Amino acid sequence: TNNITILAVETSCDETAASVIRNGHEILSNVVVSQIDSHKRFGGVVPEVASRHHVEAITYVIDQALKEAELKPSELTAVAVTEGPGLIGALLIGINAAKTFAFVHDLPLIPVHHIAGHIYAAQLEKPLEFPLISLVISGGHTELIYMKDHMSFEIIGETRDDAVGEAFDKVARVIDLPYPGGPHIDKLAQTGQDTFNFPRGLMKEKTFDFSFSGLKSAVINKLHNYRQKGEEINKNDVAASFQASVTDVLTAKTLQALKQYDVNHLIIAGGVAGNSEIRRRFKILCEEENINLQIPELKFCTDNAAMIGAAAYHLYKKNHLADLKLNGRNFIDI
Ligand code: KG4
Ligand code: ZN
Repeated sequence: TNNITILAVETSCDETAASVIRNGHEILSNVVVSQIDSHKRFGGVVPEVASRHHVEAITYVIDQALKEAELKPSELTAVAVTEGPGLIGALLIGINAAKTFAFVHDLPLIPVHHIAGHIYAAQLEKPLEFPLISLVISGGHTELIYMKDHMSFEIIGETRDDAVGEAFDKVARVIDLPYPGGPHIDKLAQTGQDTFNFPRGLMKEKTFDFSFSGLKSAVINKLHNYRQKGEEINKNDVAASFQASVTDVLTAKTLQALKQYDVNHLIIAGGVAGNSEIRRRFKILCEEENINLQIPELKFCTDNAAMIGAAAYHLYKKNHLADLKLNGRNFIDI
């Protein structure tokens, strides 16, 4: 057959994941082991703890992905792995497992950029259409990317300080919500209102770049004021106000980019794309503006290996392969 069946591995942060993907979109298996519970008590991901958990889980997730797909290694076309960016010690666990698997079973090895993976999560639902703009919003990334074709990425805007997810998690922390804070802010905000009118970073400026550190400081200062006055702050309103500021900026910048690049396909990707207010506002905006909007299913927005297998399909077709010298890289161009 002409089927391209890829075993994909992802260990860039705090999920150990393996998946078998056929022809870039058919999900034969998708296994994710999350370490979130281990990092909760530290209020964030501890790199050394993450690496150790990946070591413990990596063999299991690969075995399980093959078992659920009901495939033998000899039935695979290639092995794909996230090469970066991410926590270097965490990346290396996945990379070494993938290299070993590829060597033992004599399979080609495909290195995949983590952000390409997040964008290609959309392909698990339907083929990408070009040109497109992708807004990648996760714990480590905030980027506006223009794509004129497969595997062609032009970063047209990015954060100058905190990533959106990072801002969510930091603000959550100061209002005593558990890690990761994004989903908790999302929930609180549903019964809150934008009463604080926090700043909208760089919103009026002629750039596609983002800045969220001013917003974060504004929230912290506000909490401090209330504390000094001995007054209780309404956390639901803090969450709703913070979220409104973030969403205003994301929608405004993305719309500007769609217009300037004359694009009508939009993909929102990354863990923060799971946010209900962000999803709601983008849906309204895209209906008004006649933009084809795609936001992957929740479980494909957060880190997983299926998205890595989806992206790897195109890299394989372009013969973009790595040899056994493949190393993890944190600063790596998409
Ligand atoms: O893509 P992801 O799983 O990992 C990275 O590559 O960073 O994204 C994780 C981030 C965390 O910051 C988390 O708080 C955020 O996504 N997140 C959310 C929501 N669900 C996850 N942020 C806001 N609202 C949500 N519903
Ligand atoms: Zn990610």
